[in-house]
Amino acid sequence: MQNKLIPFLDSMATTPVDPDVVTAMLPFLSNNYGNPSSNNYYGNQARAAIEKARQQVATAIGTQAEQIIFTSGATESINLAIKGAANFYRKSGNHIITLTTEHAATLASCQHLESKGFDVTYINPETNGILDLNKLKQALRTNTILVSICHVNNEIGVIQDIEAIAEIVAASGALLHVDGAQTIGKAPLNLHNSKIAMMSFSAHKSYGPKGVGALYLRSDPKLHLSPLNHGGGQEKKIRAGTLATHQIVGMGKAFEIAALNHTENLKHVISLAKQLKTGLESIPNTSINGDIDQRVPHNLNITFHKLPGDILFNCIQSEIAVASGSACNTHEITVSHVLTAIGISRDDANATIRYSIGKHTTTADIKAAIDITKTTANKLTKSI
Ligand SMILES: Cc1ncc(COP(=O)(O)O)c(C=O)c1O
Repeated sequence: MQNKLIPFLDSMATTPVDPDVVTAMLPFLSNNYGNPSSNNYYGNQARAAIEKARQQVATAIGTQAEQIIFTSGATESINLAIKGAANFYRKSGNHIITLTTEHAATLASCQHLESKGFDVTYINPETNGILDLNKLKQALRTNTILVSICHVNNEIGVIQDIEAIAEIVAASGALLHVDGAQTIGKAPLNLHNSKIAMMSFSAHKSYGPKGVGALYLRSDPKLHLSPLNHGGGQEKKIRAGTLATHQIVGMGKAFEIAALNHTENLKHVISLAKQLKTGLESIPNTSINGDIDQRVPHNLNITFHKLPGDILFNCIQSEIAVASGSACNTHEITVSHVLTAIGISRDDANATIRYSIGKHTTTADIKAAIDITKTTANKLTKSI
């Protein structure tokens, strides 16, 4: 389906759009171009397609269609949930809790709120990346209005126990927002009867298009958010702006497909993950980051101790698409805040590679990843 020049082991960054998703989207880029807010033949068609997609997303996560707000992606959903709830419920308190290992969308939203007078507690997870629930209980205060936790961490693949967290947060009277950008197709989820108040989703991590996401909003008791953008009355006046019909249709289809083929895809990924882990662990001086059991099989984040990280990554990425534990800009090397938060040194974070597996990954891709990594690690070990 794709022009595959080198193996793609970066499916936690993004995924290819499923061909059935493309087929579902195409009519809304040609004949069915109506504005979903228009009360005419074309608008009605677009609106019906959006409502179908809303139901598909809701079904995939075990909720009702009216609890779904469409956005431009998980980044926008997270901003809307965190800033929208904080601003609306400010009269009840100004304290927010999150983790140091959250995605930048959460951390930057919290930092923005700090500049507006909110008080944010950043809890460090344990060295396996998992939140100690006692630390959460201790951090909760009478003025805590919101807790925001990522379900599946995008860098180290660990899964937080969001239902246990939701029980604790709900008992305190605060709201729990969950970043579920990586959840669909990777970890089980059913929000029916859940105490989670809000959850953010993205389409492009689950074989849908980029630039579209959703926010689940609990309806009973009803939640209120201060909107971030103002304009038309779309999405119950919570998210103004003409809805991107084709993108939303694509997200609905992608979430429907993920739910249908979940078990089959998971089996495939588990089998490849075992091969990859066995192959890479046979390289001396390696360690896997993140809890070894409480994780999604799609992710293997591994440190090659003592090896020069920049050379290692450059050699591997010329043959396999992977992610590095650091980013180099013109001035300095920025190491992953997730890795340092779980106690990994800057040098080790720099010598860390994330391999992530998707439903299209093949045994040949895994073999190629093991071969190039082994060859590079051997060469570098001899040269130091
Ligand atoms: C855990 C997590 N949260 C949020 C995001 C942001 O998602 P989007 O690209 O849809 O804005 C990502 C994507 O990198 C992610 O992995």
